[in-house]
Amino acid sequence: MAFDHRKYRPFPPVHKTDRRWPDQVIDQAPDWAAVDLRDGNQALVNPMTVAQKKRFFQLLVELGFKEIEVGFPAASQIDYDFCREIIEQDLVPDGVAIQVLTQAREDLIERTFASLEGAKKAVVHVYNSTSRVQREQVFRMDQAGIRGIAENGAQWVKDYAARYPDTDWIFQYSPESFTGTELDYAVEVVDAVTDIWEPEKGQKVIINLPATVEMATPNVFADSIEYVIDNIKRREHLRISLHTHNDRGCAVAAAELGTMAGADRIEGTLLGNGERTGNMDIVTMAMNLYSQGVDPELDLSRMKEIIATVEDITDIATHPRHPYAGELVFTAFSGSHQDAIRKCLAQRDDNDVWDVAYLPIDPGDLGRRYEEVVRINSQSGKGGVAHVLERDYGIAVPRWLQTEFAKVVQAQAERDGGEQDTHSIHALFDEHYLNVPLKWRLYSYDLHRTGDGVQAYVSVGENPDELMKFTGYGAGAVEALVGALTDYIGATIKVEAFDEHAMTEGTDAEAMACARVRVGEHEEATVALAGDTTSAALQTVLSAVGRARGADVQQQAAS
Ligand code: KIV
Ligand code: ZN
Repeated sequence: MAFDHRKYRPFPPVHKTDRRWPDQVIDQAPDWAAVDLRDGNQALVNPMTVAQKKRFFQLLVELGFKEIEVGFPAASQIDYDFCREIIEQDLVPDGVAIQVLTQAREDLIERTFASLEGAKKAVVHVYNSTSRVQREQVFRMDQAGIRGIAENGAQWVKDYAARYPDTDWIFQYSPESFTGTELDYAVEVVDAVTDIWEPEKGQKVIINLPATVEMATPNVFADSIEYVIDNIKRREHLRISLHTHNDRGCAVAAAELGTMAGADRIEGTLLGNGERTGNMDIVTMAMNLYSQGVDPELDLSRMKEIIATVEDITDIATHPRHPYAGELVFTAFSGSHQDAIRKCLAQRDDNDVWDVAYLPIDPGDLGRRYEEVVRINSQSGKGGVAHVLERDYGIAVPRWLQTEFAKVVQAQAERDGGEQDTHSIHALFDEHYLNVPLKWRLYSYDLHRTGDGVQAYVSVGENPDELMKFTGYGAGAVEALVGALTDYIGATIKVEAFDEHAMTEGTDAEAMACARVRVGEHEEATVALAGDTTSAALQTVLSAVGRARGADVQQQAAS
């Protein structure tokens, strides 16, 4: 059996009795660092060109990122050229630091600094792998040897930075594969690096703790961050950064819990592109904050543009269920969800705090339209169908008709097996309720009030030369017509349910009437739109009788 869980061993938990992070709340955005142009780029089938990097960089700047890792210039000519272009063409706004990655080798560090010549503010990010598996099997070095690589790297970074005194330098160190590194050893290496950089003397230093591979549940990651923060030297002079990957699908959760554990800064990519299962998705983490009333300090209202640019450059489609960004994430197909959303939206005042069932945020904040919220398929119910009719056509149907029409829509959706768009729902409504049977269109009516009731004169038909004329008396116009038609067709007519109302703005008709009418053996539901409520009401009865007569004729022909 190839599929055998006994091949694996559980990740050891961190033994901690002084956990504080579970009680913390994130009430302000961390410092964001976008690594799309480096980590994201390294994971692409077709890495970015200089022009694509420029376009992506511009977007990141406009969204509000203040630290942007732009490449690995010592390892890639394109990344080197890109650094030169944005520096020489002065495309890096004041207040934005460009960041570049390098391994802890002198030749690479030298070239890295050359790529940054002339930069106003830059982060030099040096890393080496510290995990047990890398030490034992990849580098075949002991702990002291691996610590020595970090120390040498730190020294070269310091020395080369001194050759470019006009740049505001920030040094960053990552014990790569931190999640596979013994915590006391990670602390030892980080301390050795900061011994050299001496942040207490004014050098800006970032210590970045990467979940290069996500290996455990996010609480274990948070424990490890709290442990490092509690045990490293010079904590108050350092910015602690996290860089989580998504191997277990929890990169955002790990970054969030790690922030609760005391991290100041978060690295990630827009929509989560990155090695293997990707980097931490900054859009999701930032929007999670936003949905809690915390300013994410990034302008994510431009979500459509973000998606379009990222998809275009990475050639990776956004999953339709991607948090906040996917095409379907503000859509409800299920009947009970649609009903709840419709009711909450109807009660909502524009100034209210957002409190809508099934919608964690207002889709409008991300440029999404309310039309997308309710979509209809065979899972949908009366609330959703009613919502679509009202939203798109101004047709508000009574509850009894909602229930009946929802069954009609569901039957069609089950037959077609797919989504029913707004046009097909309207067409179905027309066909089932609004359609006037041939020769049964109200042509004109005249009402005379006599005694307690009304004398009605009703002309029916399309053509003035071929009209049917009915005269009846009743308490109201409908009753008068029902009386006249009963005599005409020789069967009982009973209006079992009736609703009418003025139409909402934006529709041609002024009034709508809905009726359920029993005509002999038949029960017919009809709807009429007209210029006035009496016309609409009379038409519902005429349509019901016309349909019942048509059904009788068909039955006779069949037998
Ligand atoms: O995932 C990782 O460990 C990295 C480092 C270079 C920070 O990308
Ligand atoms: Zn990474």
